[in-house]
Amino acid sequence: MSKTTVLALVGSLRAASVNRQIAETAVAVAPKGVEVIVFDGLGDVPFYNEDIDGVASIPAVEALREAAGRADALLLVTPEYNGTIPAVLKNAIDWISRPYGTGAVKDKPVAVISASPSNNGARWAHEDTRKAACIAGGKVLEDVTLAIGGTTDKFAGRHPKENSEVAQQVAEVVTSLVDATRQFADA
Ligand SMILES: Cc1cc2nc3c(=O)[nH]c(=O)nc-3n(C[C@H](O)[C@H](O)[C@H](O)COP(=O)(O)O)c2cc1C
Repeated sequence: MSKTTVLALVGSLRAASVNRQIAETAVAVAPKGVEVIVFDGLGDVPFYNEDIDGVASIPAVEALREAAGRADALLLVTPEYNGTIPAVLKNAIDWISRPYGTGAVKDKPVAVISASPSNNGARWAHEDTRKAACIAGGKVLEDVTLAIGGTTDKFAGRHPKENSEVAQQVAEVVTSLVDATRQFADA
């Protein structure tokens, strides 16, 4: 069976981002035959602007679109900023939603994981990310609702991949994405 590739986009640019570490956990727990790649460089992607899209080469945008286009599925891992999706992740979704109808996210399975120190685990950002990815054309896995709360106490400075419960939950999300790529391929 051919390799399945999942591209992870992280909604936090912070060096010590817990959400990035959760994306790294997806890399660590990916089963044989599945490669999870965490995209580096969202911080270099300019704000979406129709005046510049397609007019001149924007290397950061090309890198994002190529990586998303090559991937079989997308994993969006996000904190919550002021009750919604952080701008960096929304911006990435906007870029891969265009050209309209043929953007890199079109018809691709998408799963969302959110995490925050608060008890609700960034649930509002989770919901808004699912909504944006769906309207952008992705096949959002609505039954993937992993929202990890209380991260400060839960991880206490340790990498989430060392937390067996969270590692298992993240592994289940990766499996759901891989299953979805196969279902869509068979459809
Ligand atoms: C501008 C800003 C707004 C925030 N708003 C929220 C919020 O609405 N809800 C929440 O749970 N946490 C909020 N936080 C706290 C983040 O969840 C916290 O900084 C989290 O650790 C960020 O994720 P990271 O570790 O992946 O960077 C906010 C943080 C920032 C910087």
